[in-house]
Amino acid sequence: MMKVMIPPIKCQGIKSKLVPFIKRTVDWSFEGRWIEPFMGSGVVGFNIMPRNAVFADSNPHLINFYNAIATGKIDGLKVRKFLEQQGEILSSHGQNHYYEVRERFNQTQDPLDFLFLNRCCFNGMIRFNRQGDFNVPFGHKSQRFSKAYITKIVNQVDHVHVMSKQSHWSFICQDFRETLKEISEDDFVYCDPPYVGRHVDYFDSWDEEDEKYLFEILSHSPCKFILSTWHSNQYRENAFLKALWSGFHVLTKEHFYYVGAKEENRKPMLEAFVMNYIPKHLHEGPIERSEQLLLLEKVAESQSSEIE
Ligand SMILES: C[S@@+](CC[C@H](N)C(=O)[O-])C[C@H]1O[C@@H](n2cnc3c(N)ncnc32)[C@H](O)[C@@H]1O
Repeated sequence: MMKVMIPPIKCQGIKSKLVPFIKRTVDWSFEGRWIEPFMGSGVVGFNIMPRNAVFADSNPHLINFYNAIATGKIDGLKVRKFLEQQGEILSSHGQNHYYEVRERFNQTQDPLDFLFLNRCCFNGMIRFNRQGDFNVPFGHKSQRFSKAYITKIVNQVDHVHVMSKQSHWSFICQDFRETLKEISEDDFVYCDPPYVGRHVDYFDSWDEEDEKYLFEILSHSPCKFILSTWHSNQYRENAFLKALWSGFHVLTKEHFYYVGAKEENRKPMLEAFVMNYIPKHLHEGPIERSEQLLLLEKVAESQSSEIE
């Protein structure tokens, strides 16, 4: 089993569980740049460990946070001190303290406050209201910041710091249209945009026009790309897969996501990976091939159960 390096920030749609699959599917010489226009938590690119990378996102708070780590403005020591202090106040004052930090963050946009909120808000969500203010409620765990939990976060911060120091990584706040303006043959593009119609907030929304624009750019891509999207769930199918992306190679993988924390609220979702090449593992070893067959069977099953 591959060990996945988990980043310090969580976000909805985080691909930690899919990293081993994506990593095996990436076919790249590492000569050019890893380009990730929708970095979110950064978990995919961080585990690819490219020498040169552009990590971009439309959410300035994610980018500020990673720039603060890359430049050393925040490091493991500072994070430990900050979370120990704030965690202690949280454990005695409870949610009042959470809401105080939230208000403070909305005025100062401090990356340490962002980390604190991300780690004790409801479900590790990132959501901003129409004024651009972070508005996720408290996650109801006043004792959240135990010594072990803080150490885990500190290690995650240090890991990103070391990797970004050893490599040429830039973190840029910009729209995907900008990020994808100058791509060249040796680059590799990994796109994980929001799903159409799923979730809308101040920094994070996605509609049909965006999907079509992305399709136009990727259709003319000089380099290899992978696009992560959804294939189907128990209720419906992603119509864009047929309408737009059907000329590309599509792999699928079953994934479970949780609505709340309860086991019975575990919902299956078939994820789709669209790419402009046939991944090497489909021509190689028997394990990979049988996995692919299994995946194809799952697609067939899900399609036939929808027809029934
Ligand atoms: C599904 S998340 C990416 C998750 C990421 N792959 C991970 O594993 O953590 C989509 C990201 O796209 C960003 N985003 C939304 N619209 C964007 C746009 N027009 N340009 C660039 N980024 C955008 C959101 O802020 C969000 O962080």
